[in-house]
Amino acid sequence: MKFISSAGDYNVEQPGRLLMRAARIAPDLKWQMLGTIVVTFLATIVRLLGPLVVKGGIDNGIALGDKSAILTSAAVFMALLVVQYGAGAISQWSVALVGERYLVRLRSAVFAQMLKLDMGFFSRSKSGVLVSRMTSDVESLQEFASDGAVMALTNLLSVVGVAFALALVDWQMASAVFAVVAVLVAVSVVFQRQARRAYDQVRERIGRVLASLQEGITGVRVVQAFTQESAQASTFGRVNEKYFDANMAAARAISWYFPVVAFLRTVALVAALAIGARRVLDGTMTLGTLVAFLLYLDWFFQPIINLSNVYNLLQSALAALSKLFQLMDEPVVIADRPGAFDIPENAAGVVELVDVSFSYVPDVSVLTDISLKVDAGERVAIVGETGSGKSTIAKLIMRFYDPDSGLVLLDDVDLVNVTARSRADMLALVPQDGFLFAGTLRSNLRYADPTATDEAIWNVLRAMGIDDWVRSLPDGFETEVRERGGRFSAGERQLVALARAFLADPTVIVLDEATSNLDPETEIQVEGALRVLLAGRTSIVIAHRIRSAERADRVVMIDAGQVIAQGTHTELIESSHRYRELVEVWQRGTQ
Ligand SMILES: Nc1ncnc2c1ncn2[C@@H]1O[C@H](COP(=O)(O)OP(=O)(O)O)[C@@H](O)[C@H]1O
Ligand SMILES: [Mg+2]
Repeated sequence: MKFISSAGDYNVEQPGRLLMRAARIAPDLKWQMLGTIVVTFLATIVRLLGPLVVKGGIDNGIALGDKSAILTSAAVFMALLVVQYGAGAISQWSVALVGERYLVRLRSAVFAQMLKLDMGFFSRSKSGVLVSRMTSDVESLQEFASDGAVMALTNLLSVVGVAFALALVDWQMASAVFAVVAVLVAVSVVFQRQARRAYDQVRERIGRVLASLQEGITGVRVVQAFTQESAQASTFGRVNEKYFDANMAAARAISWYFPVVAFLRTVALVAALAIGARRVLDGTMTLGTLVAFLLYLDWFFQPIINLSNVYNLLQSALAALSKLFQLMDEPVVIADRPGAFDIPENAAGVVELVDVSFSYVPDVSVLTDISLKVDAGERVAIVGETGSGKSTIAKLIMRFYDPDSGLVLLDDVDLVNVTARSRADMLALVPQDGFLFAGTLRSNLRYADPTATDEAIWNVLRAMGIDDWVRSLPDGFETEVRERGGRFSAGERQLVALARAFLADPTVIVLDEATSNLDPETEIQVEGALRVLLAGRTSIVIAHRIRSAERADRVVMIDAGQVIAQGTHTELIESSHRYRELVEVWQRGTQ
């Protein structure tokens, strides 16, 4: 499944470009990075000096029976160890610091981008896949930052350093070792290919597991209501099995590679011992040199194996980076255009749709050449069957989407030329399901206008007749609403969402069946409050009850994305049989 529409021009095959771009996210970390490399380099150099000191101790001390030379060598060796561990610790710590700082930036950048994407992006992508962008992709970068980067740096320096040291100590023996290493490298390349394919699958399938999990959790009420637990579980089971298969493929690759590596290591050791022992007996090599060589040899293989692990981490980090960059390259449709301006605060609030056509998915037209004008201060009810396009009109007025053709105007200004800030000041939408954020009731009420005073809030609550309800809550204003407002009923959430919208004091307000979850008694009470709260504002009320239609200055009836009738409630009862049918359905519903 390809969830991102733009052809990402960053891919794993171009690690250079990827890394360059990655560096641009946090250019200020450059010096810390350089410092880290220097410290790591020092730690490696110091470590490489160790076997040379041992060689001196053996050749000058043990072989010649010079006790003081042995002691000197031992002391120098100890000192080197202390420096090496000190530098190693600093290196480890600073790599982690740079890596984690970088990830903080990256996560913020990705999250900020997600919040700016147009709604179309979210309807194209599963939220589980998006969550996996933020979790598993960022996590593989995390893994690389915390382990991979240190390993890459130290091991790369070790391999190069040890290769030099080996050649320096004895180039003939070194040639034999390098021959074995050539085989090791070839084997490692084969292993990497296999492992990478497996890990790509693991990553892709974990995304599906997460998506399936997310769907099950968010839809759990529906699942239970239709007693589909076992069907849902078996869908999950299939995804889960595939994830297992991918992991096993990775395990297979690992299980042949490491024994082969161990074997090659023994071959190199045996070769070095065979050559070295003969040379020591010949007297063409000192015992100290042989020991130093063997010590270096042991430091040669492990870094190569480590590097091949790092290569894995690096590959998944690069893959993750390229996916994150694709996400960041998604066009931000609702972003302010260059030259976007603010609407004057005293704007009248005339809303107009001119020949608007819109489709969520290509070729499935939802609105067709619809034109509709709502005058300043007018209260218009939009009615129509479910799926006729009412909520879509509301979303276009809020500019959650741009129309495919036609214009959405606010006081004769095309909405695409208005800044988001100014739109948010002018327009408010109360959707069917009032969404509350984790936090207190007060913070939720003040969401649109953080400067709202308690007095202003109480005024709105009183106008809506819900001040007593708020006072009756255990902590009143400070009551925690919990994630998604879980502790309130749907109706209570709608009341809070309505109050929140009125507090923002918008010029234009769109209510999308915003009282549908209220019980009839509360609804009558809120309907009364709306008369006060909507006064002087342009209001577009998507209606689901006869009362809302009766109270409107004008009723606009939508069918299949087109206006089929408009006029006052009384006029439409007279003139439109479709409207009469709808009203009958409503009346039956409320009985
Ligand atoms: N995010 C979306 N992606 C694809 N199709 C959608 C989306 N939202 C709504 N639709 C479709 O658009 C049509 C109009 O939906 P909507 O405006 O919500 O209708 P109403 O509010 O009148 O019930 C419906 O056929 C619906 O299935
Ligand atoms: Mg709707």
